[in-house]
Amino acid sequence: MQDIKDGQLVKNCSYINGKWHASSSEAHAEIEVINPATGALVTRVNNAGIAETELAVQAAKNALKMWSSKSANERSTLMRNWFNLMMQHQDDLSRILTIEQGKPLAEAKGEIAYGAAFIEWFAEEGKRIYGDTIPAPSGDKRIIVIKQPIGVVAAITPWNFPNAMIARKAAAALGAGCTFVVRPATQTPLSALAMAELAERAGIPAGVFNVVVGDDAHGMGKILTEHPDVSKFTFTGSTPVGKALIRQCATTVKKVSMELGGNAPFIVFDDADIDAAISGAMVSKYRNAGQTCICTNRIFVQENVLTAFTEKFVAAVDALKIGNGLTKGVTIGPMINSDAVADVAKLVKDSVAAGAKVVLGGKQGENESFYQPTVLTNVTNDMPIAHNEIFGPVSPIISFKNECEVIAMANNTEFGLAAYFYSRDIGRIWRVAEGLEFGMIGINEGLISNAATPFGGIKQSGNGREGSKYGLDDYLEIKYLCLGGLDK
Ligand code: SIN
Repeated sequence: MQDIKDGQLVKNCSYINGKWHASSSEAHAEIEVINPATGALVTRVNNAGIAETELAVQAAKNALKMWSSKSANERSTLMRNWFNLMMQHQDDLSRILTIEQGKPLAEAKGEIAYGAAFIEWFAEEGKRIYGDTIPAPSGDKRIIVIKQPIGVVAAITPWNFPNAMIARKAAAALGAGCTFVVRPATQTPLSALAMAELAERAGIPAGVFNVVVGDDAHGMGKILTEHPDVSKFTFTGSTPVGKALIRQCATTVKKVSMELGGNAPFIVFDDADIDAAISGAMVSKYRNAGQTCICTNRIFVQENVLTAFTEKFVAAVDALKIGNGLTKGVTIGPMINSDAVADVAKLVKDSVAAGAKVVLGGKQGENESFYQPTVLTNVTNDMPIAHNEIFGPVSPIISFKNECEVIAMANNTEFGLAAYFYSRDIGRIWRVAEGLEFGMIGINEGLISNAATPFGGIKQSGNGREGSKYGLDDYLEIKYLCLGGLDK
């Protein structure tokens, strides 16, 4: 952990009820945090389990009344302190993130600002939890609708955005007046724990924000999804795991929000600005080495611009500099581990066996955690690579003839998270935007994520929205008050 200016940000155990809590159990070995770029051991983190998860839920439950009864302004002030501290420590937080996750430092800095922006956003949005009055069906009554915090929120978050995926959920929960327990991915616990350290410095009271780090995914997940004191569960990760967690939440009828898998089409029409489409495809595909749920998964190019697009795109991908995210000038880092590389390599191999052509890359990079930025042509929409979430730096290019055909191909997936298309024709823009069955559409834009927008999917990509004014609704209950007996 060289070059971290504030060493107190590097923590080695869970944060429960405002305390750094080391489990005394000898039963579990510590969790090893590995730098994916080098394979080196970064540090070890105390391995919490079921008992600590129970404690964290209890702490959140005990803190709920105190936190929810604060005024929105009081909560906002504390959350803004947290936002400010995250931005003040952006350099250290980015370094920690790159060391444990692998993304280039500039991207890690972007992620810290992105995560902090959710805290700033919901610090403000929490002041705007409005209710309603509804004209009553009879004169002696009044109907009033109020919104109240749902209660204790539990979350399981992924390794691909170790800061922002926690911030996006926790900020909405805290802004709504809920308390929060998160189990971060065991590959990337340090960013979560650094956030807890800053939450404490910001004055967020004990029990409001809890982080439990442990490798008992099943046991800890069961507590977070089935505990009667948890009112809402939120998850970002794969669709199969999300489905299992939803089933567990059904036992106590919890409200859930799920941000699950994607299979984003990126469509280039023949009237598009090709250079703009190349820039959009680069950011939407190769950000985080292709490891985001909204990454472009299939590039559809209209047949009369296929050659022009492919030549320029291959040149842009070839210019990416692969390496350790801490090295200056590196634009694409490692994947999270060798298993992830093996999955991507298999998809490429199967595509080639089915007739695809590797025009760039197609091999493991400098060590077993790296995969070369890759472009495949001659791909068809029925190949496995077009139906599976690649989650790696591989671009399959598929050609199409017309608008109807490409909308049908793009929608031919059980996923419905993000889609992108490039066109300058206003009529086509409306038709395609309305025809694509996805929760988020980038139109002449490859980077669609920010705190002001409702992030989320349809179909098997999940439910609920994160960020924006809609993001708060997932953490609130609607209560209707009927005021009767008003006659004189
Ligand atoms: C994700 O991969 O789940 C999140 C991506 C984003 O927020 O842009």
